[in-house]
Amino acid sequence: MNGKKIDISCPESIYEQYVQKVAPLHDSRASSLPGMLVKALQCLRDCTTVLDVCGGTGRIARHLVNQGYKVKVVDSSEDMLRIARRKGLDVEIQDARHLDERPASYDAVICLGNSLGGIPSKAGRNQAIREMARVSRKRVIIDCANRLCDLAVVWLPMYVRHWAGCYRPGLQLRKDVCSGRNLGEIVFHDRELDAVLYHYVYSSLELKEEMERAGLRVHAVNSILARRVALVGDKRREP
Ligand SMILES: C[S@@+](CC[C@H](N)C(=O)[O-])C[C@H]1O[C@@H](n2cnc3c(N)ncnc32)[C@H](O)[C@@H]1O
Repeated sequence: MNGKKIDISCPESIYEQYVQKVAPLHDSRASSLPGMLVKALQCLRDCTTVLDVCGGTGRIARHLVNQGYKVKVVDSSEDMLRIARRKGLDVEIQDARHLDERPASYDAVICLGNSLGGIPSKAGRNQAIREMARVSRKRVIIDCANRLCDLAVVWLPMYVRHWAGCYRPGLQLRKDVCSGRNLGEIVFHDRELDAVLYHYVYSSLELKEEMERAGLRVHAVNSILARRVALVGDKRREP
């Protein structure tokens, strides 16, 4: 990857490679739950059963189980789930876009740690949101990186580096600065891991609209200036 252009023709395989690399380090890199997530979890108070979609190493699920929730972790990566299994969690390989669960079978469905953005294509992400709404009885909680904050902290410094001539190949913006091709999504090189991260960054408004289209009544948990935004969507009662 060093000095070479990244093949971005298949974002799904880029993301899989990233997940494989990040799995053993995931818990150490994300050692504490950000305050925003803790707030989001407070919205689970009237829930008992929770499906953790894209639950990875079970970092959040373990925290919930310790608090008395009954949690199942589903994820598409065996590398991630192996670690979750070692923590004694109930885990299963499932694709968020086609959940193998019955309708309204969990009080709450969560998808945290900015996982939704790892699903390539808008259609795929919307399908995952609809699936979460389908299997949830009461509530869906999704958190995403805040686009405003990302712009200031990640993308502007990258543009400045590019402008100043110290752009590092392997680091890609929305526009591939080598080919000039628009990417539409975000792909960048994680220097620490020597891996490529593919990620779509939502604005809270966009995610809210997609959740509402999936039939959820949405309210945001935290401020739009936070690093991460968590959105809580309640299932609409049948008329
Ligand atoms: C950044 S990790 C976050 C894990 C966990 N939610 C947390 O906060 O610790 C993203 C996870 O999403 C999973 N993932 C990505 N696409 C998926 C899909 N289509 N179906 C299920 N899991 C997926 C990855 O395998 C990875 O474990």
